[in-house]
Amino acid sequence: MSFTNKKIIAGNWKMNGLKNEAWQLTNDLLSKFESPDQKLQFEMIICPPATLLSEVVSMVDGSPIKVGAQNCSDKLNGAYTGEISPTMIKDIGAQFVILGHSERRSYYGETNEIVSQKAFSALSQGLTPIICIGETLEQKENGSALAVIEDQFTNSIPEGASIENIIIAYEPVWAIGTGKVATLQDIIDIHTKIREVSEKKLGSRNISILYGGSVKPSNAKDIFSLQDVDGVLVGGASLNADDFWNIAMES
Ligand code: PGA
Repeated sequence: MSFTNKKIIAGNWKMNGLKNEAWQLTNDLLSKFESPDQKLQFEMIICPPATLLSEVVSMVDGSPIKVGAQNCSDKLNGAYTGEISPTMIKDIGAQFVILGHSERRSYYGETNEIVSQKAFSALSQGLTPIICIGETLEQKENGSALAVIEDQFTNSIPEGASIENIIIAYEPVWAIGTGKVATLQDIIDIHTKIREVSEKKLGSRNISILYGGSVKPSNAKDIFSLQDVDGVLVGGASLNADDFWNIAMES
């Protein structure tokens, strides 16, 4: 079985949110749930910046919302000034960590190898890594998207990973924050490829795959209609409680 049978709705706040805004956004989201034990067809995960993790974890305690970080160190502790370890993230009560986001790969030089080391450490602390992969526009246009996806998947997944303890997010770089969404056929083609590679590397096609890149309430229904999509990773639209909730409602 994959990570969960429910659709996953994950929000990546990126480097956005001061205390007041996080309080407001989290409360607005919490107010959408009828009761803490409401039966839902989805799992909701929010990933605030590290400075807000502790606060948000306390706020959502006892609710169906789960919390993730946006990055972590590959080290567990020690003389690594400025880094935050998976042990620390686990300690404050977050359960997930986004790793290998294309913004980290392109602005902070994270290679597949680094992503794999971080994911290994995250797994060792019981966090669930949400590992992001996706091709650039240039790679899409020169026909190498499938090869890039295979390479990123194969080399970003650490030893010890299984279809039960990691989540993949397919995020075409050209669709992130641009308003351009991959066509449904693009999503089908790449998710199919990911399942093939997952079968080779992890022995099963049933890995949880999220689609990310300009997901909003108006396109969520079509995206969720694809059998191969297990959820979404939402950036911009996760900063608005109504939009984020309305995306979840389409799942
Ligand atoms: P976006 O970002 O929804 O704003 O395109 C998605 C992401 O980067 O995870």
